[in-house]
Amino acid sequence: MADVSPVVPPVIELLDVTRRFGEITVLDSVTLRFPSGLTTAIIGPSGAGKSVLLKVLVGLLKPDAGTVRLFGHDVTEAPERELFAARRRIGMLFQDGALFDSLTVGENVAFPLDQHRRDLAGAERDRRVAEKLEWVGLPGFEDRPIASLSGGQRKRVGLARAIVLEPEVVLFDEPNSGLDPFTSDQIDDLVLDMKRRLGITFVIISHDIVGTVKVADLVGMLYEGRLVEYGPTADFVRSGNPIVKSFLRRNLAPPVSAFDPGEGR
Ligand SMILES: Nc1ncnc2c1ncn2[C@@H]1O[C@H](COP(=O)(O)OP(=O)(O)OP(=O)(O)O)[C@@H](O)[C@H]1O
Ligand SMILES: [Mg+2]
Repeated sequence: MADVSPVVPPVIELLDVTRRFGEITVLDSVTLRFPSGLTTAIIGPSGAGKSVLLKVLVGLLKPDAGTVRLFGHDVTEAPERELFAARRRIGMLFQDGALFDSLTVGENVAFPLDQHRRDLAGAERDRRVAEKLEWVGLPGFEDRPIASLSGGQRKRVGLARAIVLEPEVVLFDEPNSGLDPFTSDQIDDLVLDMKRRLGITFVIISHDIVGTVKVADLVGMLYEGRLVEYGPTADFVRSGNPIVKSFLRRNLAPPVSAFDPGEGR
């Protein structure tokens, strides 16, 4: 377990993190703290470095400078064994879904259990898988092939797999990408439900402002590798920063009333 200091520490911290690929600085001195029990969203345009940030958070990519702490452990210094233990406390949903097409839904959801909880007997393992599938609204889907699922169902399976170990933190890259507004909304509701049920600290990467405002307690915006704004959601949406204002304006759907044929229908 991480040390518990008198003031509850953030579960994840990035301190002055820089990451380059060749000539390009993808993350430029980013400092961010993700407080326990809250949902933090990171938004920003395509190529801003959001997915790279998520991979740096869990040690899949190393920063060129700066420090990343998971539960108080420096991931750049920690031996692989310690990282493995920390990752068990973190569920991850990658942007491309990354479900294993050759496995069934049940085998996909069981995957983290098979890696980290080999002590669990078959019946208990199956019970946990069934429970998580039920939580995400896919009861009895264990034997379904991945190829038979819709985009929204795939996101749900990804979420079930990410929470099967009942992690303290879930990192979710683009929960709403490729989904229609109705299905997006259902995924947002699931995130809120998992936060309530398990007290999960969520880190959500998103383009979707509407979903972000609904689920996030805190919002940060990455732009060209820099964190240009960060704060409570209510403050963020009123930001005077021209980059934030422009991004919000472009990404908010026009009001439905603009298309409403109205009384004369
Ligand atoms: N492994 C890599 N090697 C070289 N360049 C990379 C690598 N991974 C990411 N990049 C570059 O880093 C930049 C940021 O990529 P990233 O995937 O973080 O963007 P993003 O903000 O998640 O965008 P999107 O919203 O489209 O998912 C891009 O220019 C990308 O080409
Ligand atoms: Mg991305």
